[in-house]
Amino acid sequence: MTHSSLRTVEWKDSKVIMIDQTKLPNELVYVEFSDYNQIANAIRKLVVRGAPAIGVSGAFGIALAALHSTATTKEDLIKDLEKAKKILFETRPTAINLGWGLERIMKIANEGKDVSKIKDSVINFSKQMAEEDIQTNMTMGRFGSELFQDQDRIMTHCNAGALATVAYGTALGVIRATKDSGKNIKVIATETRPVQQGSRLTTFELKHDGIDVDLIPDTAVGYVMVKGLVNKVIVGADRILSTGHVFNKIGTYQIATMAKHHGIPFYVAAPLSSFDLKSKPEEVVIEQRKSNEVTTIKNIKTAPENIGVINPAFDMTPPELISGIITEVGIAKPPYGESIKVLFQKKSTNS
Ligand code: MRU
Repeated sequence: MTHSSLRTVEWKDSKVIMIDQTKLPNELVYVEFSDYNQIANAIRKLVVRGAPAIGVSGAFGIALAALHSTATTKEDLIKDLEKAKKILFETRPTAINLGWGLERIMKIANEGKDVSKIKDSVINFSKQMAEEDIQTNMTMGRFGSELFQDQDRIMTHCNAGALATVAYGTALGVIRATKDSGKNIKVIATETRPVQQGSRLTTFELKHDGIDVDLIPDTAVGYVMVKGLVNKVIVGADRILSTGHVFNKIGTYQIATMAKHHGIPFYVAAPLSSFDLKSKPEEVVIEQRKSNEVTTIKNIKTAPENIGVINPAFDMTPPELISGIITEVGIAKPPYGESIKVLFQKKSTNS
């Protein structure tokens, strides 16, 4: 199986190693962190990004906090970890995986008996979470690949690949698995505002792994659909509600609407860790990004001074535009209220 050769985030020799995604596609540089504040900063600055990747990075942040804590009692160690958790949690608001990763690792910490056991178990569990992410994505890829045929021309948006996870990818994991099943496919990637994850990252990693890709401006989605250059769409997700509402990179809603108009199936691939079964659509916080991402290109002004700017990082796609949601336990189809419940029942039976 084509396993992407890119490893986004890793625990090595008591440090966290990450690809610095802000330098891509021009340089493939790895950065090393030994303090959880550096991890928080890396999440804030999009050195690491993508819902599953920041979930695992958050857990690694807690592992670093545990490793370097000078606490001598369980109570003091948990206090140190809670402080780190708060700082890590507040870095980005929309992807649910960050909170999920932090809660999971804190549960392990709270179950530990003494300082040394807690430190060991937190570090080991964070490494296990990273390996689980790869396996989850590969399983999701195999399920999803059944929806794709030979000669499909598949549009994807943002980066939901190896670089958005630990190593394999959600939407691009499905594309990798489809290719590995012997089907000849082509990918069409949008450049993706706000910071061009599609052009900088998706095309970089697909080219790196020998997968055929064409890049299009975000504004060419309608054009390529009218021309028949795309017959399926697949994207990732930062958060999926129990109703099947999907929060993903800004522009996803437009693409889903356009796909519906053209009768093109629109799929979402995301692990169960990206589901938020409690929130209502209006309760989800959409990250708003700086105005200079829209008013400048490489520090050169492309808009006049003193104008208003609206620069949301994510939008919400309603369930009626979605043909299927691919997960590691199977594919949910409409009506999602029911099918998502079934996925979670399957998960609890499997574990
Ligand atoms: O702002 P980002 O780059 O963190 O946003 C990432 C996305 O929107 C991805 O499509 C999403 O996290 C799914 S990743 C597997």
